[in-house]
Amino acid sequence: MTARTIARELSGMSAPRGTLIPEMSGRASSPVLVGRAEQMAALEAAFVSVRQGGPSAVLLGGEAGVGKSRLVSDFGRTAASAGARVLTGGCLELGTDGLPFAPFTAVLRDLVHEMGADAVASMLPGRTTRGLARLLPELGEPDTGGDPAEARARLFEEVLRALEHLTRHSPVVLVIEDAHWADRSSRDLLMFLIGNQRSLSGLLLVVTYRSDELHRTHPLRPLLASLDRIAWVERIEVQRLTRQDTSELATRILGREPAEDLAEALYHRSEGNPLFVEALLCCDGEVSRELPESLRDLLLESVRRLPEDTQEVLRVASAGGTTTGHSLLRVVSGLDDAALTRAVRPAVIANVLHPSGDGYAFRHELIREAVHDDLLPGEHGRLHSRFAEAIDADPALVPPGRAAIEMAHHWHSAHDSPWALIGAGTGLGEAIAVLDACGQWEVLPTEGGHSSFSPRNELEIGILRFLLRRYEHVSWERVVSGEGLVNVVEALAHDGGAQLPARVAELALRARGDAPAAITAAARAGDPLCKRALETFCALYGAETGNLALKALSTGGVYVAGGIAPKILPELQDGRFRAAFLGKGRMRPLLEAMPVQVVLDERITVLGAAALAAGSATLLPQTRHTPATIP
Ligand SMILES: Nc1ncnc2c1ncn2[C@@H]1O[C@H](COP(=O)(O)OP(=O)(O)OP(=O)(O)O)[C@@H](O)[C@H]1O
Ligand SMILES: [Mg+2]
Repeated sequence: MTARTIARELSGMSAPRGTLIPEMSGRASSPVLVGRAEQMAALEAAFVSVRQGGPSAVLLGGEAGVGKSRLVSDFGRTAASAGARVLTGGCLELGTDGLPFAPFTAVLRDLVHEMGADAVASMLPGRTTRGLARLLPELGEPDTGGDPAEARARLFEEVLRALEHLTRHSPVVLVIEDAHWADRSSRDLLMFLIGNQRSLSGLLLVVTYRSDELHRTHPLRPLLASLDRIAWVERIEVQRLTRQDTSELATRILGREPAEDLAEALYHRSEGNPLFVEALLCCDGEVSRELPESLRDLLLESVRRLPEDTQEVLRVASAGGTTTGHSLLRVVSGLDDAALTRAVRPAVIANVLHPSGDGYAFRHELIREAVHDDLLPGEHGRLHSRFAEAIDADPALVPPGRAAIEMAHHWHSAHDSPWALIGAGTGLGEAIAVLDACGQWEVLPTEGGHSSFSPRNELEIGILRFLLRRYEHVSWERVVSGEGLVNVVEALAHDGGAQLPARVAELALRARGDAPAAITAAARAGDPLCKRALETFCALYGAETGNLALKALSTGGVYVAGGIAPKILPELQDGRFRAAFLGKGRMRPLLEAMPVQVVLDERITVLGAAALAAGSATLLPQTRHTPATIP
């Protein structure tokens, strides 16, 4: 609730028009009402009918920002200039259990303000204002005690009488705004007034509500259904503006005709919602690429009210594009059919998602964009990678002919933040990949493997001490590589006063001199020294990967390539690598947001060479690297 809402609530004043986003009130808006001829004609016809003595009520529904208040306000001006008294009361965003009679209190306060309490009291027979005084203490002693039902009936009656009195002098247009927030008492009073309108000639009731807020169990729904059965009640849906009207709106806001491409971009992004048009139109006459903060908050409002598992599915769907198929969403979200349906349902009920074909679309593309923008950097890359992988594995998850283009899109989106690449094999390779401004991959090679080994604990300090006797400079490659694994075994063996076990030497011989393979085999066979060495190796690998990730700020992802990783995948996944990767003190949350994957495609080096030979650095997205995640 905003400070303004609270202030308004305390003062009981009516809601000014267009209070949706107070921070937005500074933006430019159109001096004239654009389009809406049909709706205006309907309102005017209702007004004519009221002037002729007939009862009439108009219910105006439409999504947030579509222009209900603007329409009513412009109509109100027309009606006022034709001699009507226009009274407006807004419901407050306190939920439907909010302050009783809030919009009527606002109307009454305005009346008292305008006419004085005495004049208002004199409108009632015998000046009995005990009912109305419940709403506004200025009107005397309120109706307390006694039968609540009777008191309520008295209040309803007094409101009716007051309106009756007013209509004797001039037609009255009573506008109740934002009825989707109406408290229960207000809904009852509204029903009572409309139901009794026949005895109130000269009163036109106009009620606005956000149709997108009316979920299936919303309390306004039964009221609207009952009102629909009353002959003099008309329901009007305020639709989004057409392409032409959107362009006209831009002209009115800018004071000049927008260029054709701007008008087109504006229509495309706003989808004809006037509030979004205003918010997206920058003062320099451009269409904002970013979502203005206040618009983002508005768009996310309905999403944030949903259960967490629904929001999680929405986050996934936001990466899927305008429409995401049910099966694709199932695969990427990892939920089974029933769980996905359960999670999606509240979003459909709340009108955030619409079923579309065999999938789901966001009600407005900007809601999708706002949810997508809200993803954490790591989450963003991870989700798009998951989409790309899912489509790669089963192209039938997207419409025929779409797989290649969808995959390209997801790979591209997955990696619009840097990647870190590390690969231990014969040596230790480290690189960073970034997308350049043209969307081409640029791989920045480094010699990070030769940077100084930085031990983190006594055990690793021991390894460094041991290796310093052997090398002038102990680089990371001396511990994280095939040779590195042997060094670690030797250091640990030396530390424990043992020689490299004969069994390992023997295994190495059998493995045709492949000592790392022999160490891994011995570790798996239960040799304590080799087991400890392999565990230490994995931790060192994780620690240096974390170092690279910090330096590259690789929120797009961290890829572990090289010949060793696929061979020791179970050990890499057993938690030691991860713990060392994350163990960077205060930077831990940053690293937690970076997905770490092991490249299993053995063709990786060949593909890399091929890409280089082709003079293109688009190696990574094209690599079907069927990665394994390090959880
Ligand atoms: N037809 C129109 N011509 C010109 N401006 C419009 C039109 N419709 C809406 N606007 C402008 O768009 C903005 C949003 O409109 P408005 O506040 O009337 O929306 P709303 O439907 O009442 O939204 P909410 O449900 O949040 O109350 C306002 O600044 C309004 O002046
Ligand atoms: Mg409004």
